[in-house]
Amino acid sequence: MTDASNAAAVPADAGAPSGSARTPGSAVPAADAARVEGMRTDEVVVEVNDLYAGYLPGINIINGANLVAHKGELIGIIGPNGAGKSTLLKSIFGMVKVRSGEINVNGDSVIGLKSDKLVSKGVGFVPQTNNVFPSLTIEENLQMGLYQAPKQYAERLDFVTSIFAELGKRLKQRAGSLSGGERQMVAMSRALMMDPAVLLLDEPSAGLSPVRQDDAFIRVSDINKAGVTTIMVEQNARRCLQICDRGYVLDQGRDAYHGSGRDLLNDPKVIGLYLGSLGSETN
Ligand SMILES: Nc1ncnc2c1ncn2[C@@H]1O[C@H](COP(=O)(O)OP(=O)(O)O)[C@@H](O)[C@H]1O
Ligand SMILES: [Mg+2]
Repeated sequence: MTDASNAAAVPADAGAPSGSARTPGSAVPAADAARVEGMRTDEVVVEVNDLYAGYLPGINIINGANLVAHKGELIGIIGPNGAGKSTLLKSIFGMVKVRSGEINVNGDSVIGLKSDKLVSKGVGFVPQTNNVFPSLTIEENLQMGLYQAPKQYAERLDFVTSIFAELGKRLKQRAGSLSGGERQMVAMSRALMMDPAVLLLDEPSAGLSPVRQDDAFIRVSDINKAGVTTIMVEQNARRCLQICDRGYVLDQGRDAYHGSGRDLLNDPKVIGLYLGSLGSETN
């Protein structure tokens, strides 16, 4: 078996992403998947294959993107501004027109499903902005997250406050009165209320002070350690790759490179093309 820690990051042209079930005859992508560093199981939760998607007719923002998230993994998506990172997450969450390709969650196609259906299929999404209801209290925000299964409120509140203890003490406070970092916690908590099969996070550290950014990364790590499969888009590329099991570099709507977080961090091409400027911008 190949030792993933010695392998260089894989450019997109090298073939299917690790764990992809696209190879004919390999029903379970375990052979590839077992090489993936940090992976918890070989069960595929999210699979994006050769995806083309965009907002306006005739203009694709996502141009042949591939992505796999196994159960329990923390996946990072990095790449330059405008690469389509947010669009890829929005595509998975049914907010962007898919032109061709596949998006599967737990083995079922989710293309064409509306966001409320996606939530009931186990997809939790935290957009970068406007991700809380500011006029509602923390408690009401959390209840909104669970509107499809209100009976589980107490149990899910326990889970969420095991990660975000400070929110549990301030349930009656209006979300609009919270700091950016605290709002981000409420937004993540709201998405976690549904016990999602996968949590999609769009730039959880954006707009936060350096100390708060560190905290955001720690919280994302905590969420993942609690067993939640997580796909995180981040502008803070180095920090993201440091905590994720595997990462994808998205460039012009395509996964230009993928590999373990460590391999991507150490790959000279990835450093030269994507981490040099991004890294110095944020570190
Ligand atoms: N709602 C929209 N309508 C049309 N084009 C959009 C929309 N949102 C984003 N785009 C375009 O899609 C491209 C990728 O944007 P985005 O996915 O936000 O990139 P990233 O998150 O990687 O910075 C950009 O060229 C952007 O202008
Ligand atoms: Mg974005």
